[in-house]
Amino acid sequence: MGLEKENILIVDDDIHILELLQRHLQSLNYHVYKAVSVKQALYVLHDSTIDLLITDIQMPEIDGLQLLKYTAEHYPHIPKLVITGYPSVDDAMSVIKSGATDYLTKPFTKEELKQAVNRSLESSKKVKEPKQKKQAITSSYGQMIGQSTAFEKVTEIIERVKDNKATVLIDGESGTGKELVARAIHFSGKFAKQPFIAVNCGAIPENLLESELFGYTKGAFTGANENKNGFFQAANNGTLFLDEIGNASIAVQSKLLRALQEKEITKVGSQKAEKVDLRIIAATNNNLQEDITNKKFREDLYYRLTVVQISVPPLRERKSDIPLLVDQFIRKYGVEYKDRLLSIADDALEMLQRYHWQGNIRELENVIQRAVIMSDGKIEIKDFPDYLKYKIEFPDASFSSLQQMEKEYILKVLAATNNNKTKAAEILQIDRKTLRQKLK
Ligand SMILES: Nc1ncnc2c1ncn2[C@@H]1O[C@H](COP(=O)(O)OP(=O)(O)OP(=O)(O)O)[C@@H](O)[C@H]1O
Ligand SMILES: [Mg+2]
Repeated sequence: MGLEKENILIVDDDIHILELLQRHLQSLNYHVYKAVSVKQALYVLHDSTIDLLITDIQMPEIDGLQLLKYTAEHYPHIPKLVITGYPSVDDAMSVIKSGATDYLTKPFTKEELKQAVNRSLESSKKVKEPKQKKQAITSSYGQMIGQSTAFEKVTEIIERVKDNKATVLIDGESGTGKELVARAIHFSGKFAKQPFIAVNCGAIPENLLESELFGYTKGAFTGANENKNGFFQAANNGTLFLDEIGNASIAVQSKLLRALQEKEITKVGSQKAEKVDLRIIAATNNNLQEDITNKKFREDLYYRLTVVQISVPPLRERKSDIPLLVDQFIRKYGVEYKDRLLSIADDALEMLQRYHWQGNIRELENVIQRAVIMSDGKIEIKDFPDYLKYKIEFPDASFSSLQQMEKEYILKVLAATNNNKTKAAEILQIDRKTLRQKLK
């Protein structure tokens, strides 16, 4: 597992540039932190170990020049690469004066970016003190198991973020282990002794979420008989895990945005803002991009949350981990239910590796739990639920159902007849009414 690649902070108010940079840099194997404003960038600089800063110059509120100056003063060892539109001579002069190492004009190619990044990193190596020796990488986080490449990508990011307070968004299908990842970040890092508070934003009624998160003052609403702290204060100095963040209402989202931006919260019923200092990890199995399009999720909050993003892969994309996981669950439930270790037949294990695992690791765990109860020593195919035996994956991805074939064929004929339904029906040798029904 290689951690040798550098941490790069990219700052731009244009999210398209931000995403383009992220894609390019990640494909070059760099680890990326994103910030949509100078203010957010300052937090990231403070909370993380950054090896290179890439910033835009023109940004609303505080501009990139000030960021460059600040970085030069406070983090002199960090090289600074500037990305600008067409710079005027004046701009170019002030960029150089501000201490930028290099600059790149838009539009740029991936190759140009790569070279500029290399140059900047090289220039800083000459002056940099020898890098601190890395701590040994713990191979397992509590009971978090895996050795596949997909899984290693996740653990590598955990290593990067565990000791800093950068905000993390974890996404992935249900049951993939998002909560486990959040716990691993907290409990393997240097804030492990501080509180870890998990809040399921989907489980708390909308009208209570705000007061639960931020607390309330006496008399704020009927039943508020005393001042009460919320989860933010409870998690202070530690980690607040906001599970199912996609379910927070727009009103709560605005408050969250403010809390992230200002690092302060206001209790319900109070005028006074209070400082908080904690790490936020959010998780979702919604497609937040889609929620943004449908106006169900605030885009600005999304970009505040995704300073670092971890996409936990579905189990079907890390099938080589199945034997390890099965082993672990057999041990766990064997001891719990049968007071001994069970084994599993080869063909039974093979069946588990063929299955599609829509419910991911949680589903696998349930299947093993049940099989342990059903089995008498060795787990066999008969100990599995029936659906597992029939719903195996297609042996070849090119096979599809008759219905699908029919649909594709009808569309092909329609396209060939310029959407002339009479002609299409004639070719297909069905009447027009049937064709119309099928089209529906
Ligand atoms: N790598 C792993 N090794 C061992 N067990 C795991 C691993 N990942 C997940 N699990 C187990 O799978 C179950 C589901 O994990 P978790 O609750 O973290 O998933 P999730 O992604 O948060 O799911 P949901 O979206 O439904 O909330 C848990 O019992 C967890 O312990
Ligand atoms: Mg969860």
